[in-house]
Amino acid sequence: MRSEDARPVRLADYQPPAFLIDTVELGIDLDRHRTRVRSVLRVRANPERQAPAALELDGDELKLLSVKLDGRPLPADAHEATAQKLTILQPPAESFTLEIETELDPSANTKLMGLYRSGSAYCTQCEAEGFRRITYFPDRPDVMAVYTVTLTADRDDAPVLLANGNLQQKGEIPETNRHFAVWHDPHPKPSYLFAVVGGNLDRLSDSFTTMSGRKVELGIYVEPGKAGRATYAMDALKRSMVWDEKVFGREYDLDVFNIVAVSDFNMGAMENKGLNVFNDKYVLASPETATDADYAGIESVIAHEYFHNWTGNRITCRDWFQLCLKEGLTVFRDQEFSSDERSRPVKRIADVRTLRSHQFPEDSGPLAHPVRPDTYREINNFYTATIYEKGAEIIRMLKTLIGADLFAKGMDLYFDRHDGQATTIEAFIACFADVSKQDLSQFMLWYAQAGTPEVQVQTRYDAEAKTLHLDVAQKVPATPGQPTKKPMVVPLAFGLLDQDGRDLPIRLADDGWAENGVIVLDQEQKGFTCTGVSARPVLSVNRGFSAPIRLIADITEDDLFFLARHDSDFFNRWEALQKVTLRELVKSVDAIRAGETPATDPRLISAFASSLEDQSLEHAFAAQLLTLPSEVELTLEIGRDIDPDAVHAALLSLRQEIGAGIAAQALERYRSLQDSGPFVPGAASAGRRSLRAVLLGLLTASHGKEAAELAATHYRSATNMTDRISGLAALSRIPGTEREEVLKDFRARYRNDALVMDKWLSIQAAIPEEDALDRVKRLMKEPDFSLSNPNRVRALIGSFAGGNPTQFHRADGTGYQFLVRIIDELDAKNPQVAARLLTAFRSWRTLEAGRRARAEAALKQLAGGGNRSSDVADILTRTLG
Ligand code: PHE
Ligand code: ZN
Repeated sequence: MRSEDARPVRLADYQPPAFLIDTVELGIDLDRHRTRVRSVLRVRANPERQAPAALELDGDELKLLSVKLDGRPLPADAHEATAQKLTILQPPAESFTLEIETELDPSANTKLMGLYRSGSAYCTQCEAEGFRRITYFPDRPDVMAVYTVTLTADRDDAPVLLANGNLQQKGEIPETNRHFAVWHDPHPKPSYLFAVVGGNLDRLSDSFTTMSGRKVELGIYVEPGKAGRATYAMDALKRSMVWDEKVFGREYDLDVFNIVAVSDFNMGAMENKGLNVFNDKYVLASPETATDADYAGIESVIAHEYFHNWTGNRITCRDWFQLCLKEGLTVFRDQEFSSDERSRPVKRIADVRTLRSHQFPEDSGPLAHPVRPDTYREINNFYTATIYEKGAEIIRMLKTLIGADLFAKGMDLYFDRHDGQATTIEAFIACFADVSKQDLSQFMLWYAQAGTPEVQVQTRYDAEAKTLHLDVAQKVPATPGQPTKKPMVVPLAFGLLDQDGRDLPIRLADDGWAENGVIVLDQEQKGFTCTGVSARPVLSVNRGFSAPIRLIADITEDDLFFLARHDSDFFNRWEALQKVTLRELVKSVDAIRAGETPATDPRLISAFASSLEDQSLEHAFAAQLLTLPSEVELTLEIGRDIDPDAVHAALLSLRQEIGAGIAAQALERYRSLQDSGPFVPGAASAGRRSLRAVLLGLLTASHGKEAAELAATHYRSATNMTDRISGLAALSRIPGTEREEVLKDFRARYRNDALVMDKWLSIQAAIPEEDALDRVKRLMKEPDFSLSNPNRVRALIGSFAGGNPTQFHRADGTGYQFLVRIIDELDAKNPQVAARLLTAFRSWRTLEAGRRARAEAALKQLAGGGNRSSDVADILTRTLG
């Protein structure tokens, strides 16, 4: 395997670049198979470093045509060139000009890194190390340069020519059928933010006037005929621009901001300076083609990429170990934006669900890594839930610890102090230490130590002394390469409820009034005493999920039911009900495995009933209350010796019990929530649709004939994609001819719309029935399925491996065999997507022995196979390690 030969990169080995590049002039002549790239670099030795004898430039699968130094061709003995590296053996001591010509074949680029074709367009993807697939360059984020790009192309092949920055010039090339455009980006940037696009694209235009009165031209480029579907993305962009001015004081800094939607993209989107490139899934929406979840996804990804302009682009990462410097912070910013635009508690619940379903399993398995890793073999594999989502949680804790005002001051200082730099986590945290005058060195452990801390809370009420004592202790589990851990700084927001469910004022014995209601655990164990508590209170702790931990509190089921009804913290209201539900589910998994019928606490059913009755709740919040934990969350709660069939059966049986228990009431509410009038994507009406969909799920959990009718009617009477998909999803769980007919109907309606067909693929891939694997294999033969398109692969194969636990983890191991075969084939085309699919095995060691053995065999078989990419080899080695 390649990765075992390749040396890991270590943070401790960081050295500033030996040479700096001041300017880059690129001439790119676009051609489907023979694109020529001429790069002129102004190079000088880095004064901060003793310059080594040679200048080394990165390359990846490059074909060198020529290289000149200060205008003269370099003799053969003055340089060495391979597809991976260009070495200038004795560069001049003073600054000099290097001119390099390379040739590429965009049509043959299936990795979707560097310059490639997507649909009828040319586009680029350079993060993290894709620029070296275009030209030889010191391809590292701490080399920042000013770029000027001249693009030429056939006028018909690529009427639109875009690059970073502002357009300087464009025109025809006389006596040819080609034209050109010159783009200049005045802001020095790292190579990973470089982008060009060429093609036949339609444009949706708008403009935005910034707070200082600068007019910015906004453009969203899409496939011809689809500009009408970009209006929501444009609206989200303008709202993002306003919000970043208002909340973070950040203004946009170029005359244009362009977004291009492409249909072949490895990730969600990319923040290239002034020219964001998006997976079209996160741009295109209409009521007929996109669900409420799609709209929310577009809003947050548009915001995320736009916010990168300051947190990522103006201030970038010194090296890739600092990836969370831009990603964790930018996720935090987009979460805050969505909270302000929609409902804060509902957004928080959704984010915590994501964290628990993706980051927690990662953090408790063989792929666990610190938010700032100190070593990697393949950087592409570190765009993880840990770096993004846990990274955002760290920022949130920082804000909780020092307070909103100091947090804002710290951010301002960061923007001030580091604008134009490539910097580190230490430099970022120092800004907050400086403004708050707090020592944040222990807090830094959140970046260094992997693993989800387990926090135990025990309470003792003393009626005579009128005190409530909290005993709080933490344990950070061992993770790969980190057998022992130090205690972390854990901010715990908490409250005490009286008998009527009202918040009591909190007075801590030592610290006086705890105004913000936050206690900080910074040792292995610590005690806190609340005084003046005249009756036994109910404790609500880790309110708002103030720390990304696993909380083990000695709260009784009675108290949890009480919190579920009364907690003034809506997050913890939801959390309390989830907790009791999980406790019940764990018991019923045990019962099922012992061959018994699970017996549910009737109080749980009543709790669901009262959530439904409470008309004062926001619809979207009620929908969250009525949604059971996911299979992943239940699996995590059990922790070991997992039988996915029992987990699935326990959830299904509870859903059926709830459905039956609240049927009459649920049906009435379901009917009352029917939409009337035209579709609006806003939070309020989306919330109504989501509550109705959750009720549909409960009402159809019995999978009987009436259930099928209800789901089919929901599907057929839908006037928008959200309702259509809710109906289809509910019906997909009910075997029978009705389901197959509706699936056919859906295909007939939407067969020409790839993004909509992805929903059809992924719903079917997730059907938890014996023949799921055969169905997936059949769907792979659909004319529009292709292993070359990441969205199709994720929709079908990804949903099977990640969203169909009973069938992926079939006891006979055929699910594993299938995935491994696909990965083997895909690895030759697109290693990044292949490696991502492989992470479906991340929790294999927690499975019961039979499945564990089959998973291991499949993984070993893949490891023993032919030429593995470094991406797949890296995940394999760590997963098996
Ligand atoms: N930097 C992108 C984002 O989070 C993600 C990305 C990484 C896209 C690598 C492409 C390649 O916003
Ligand atoms: Zn990002």
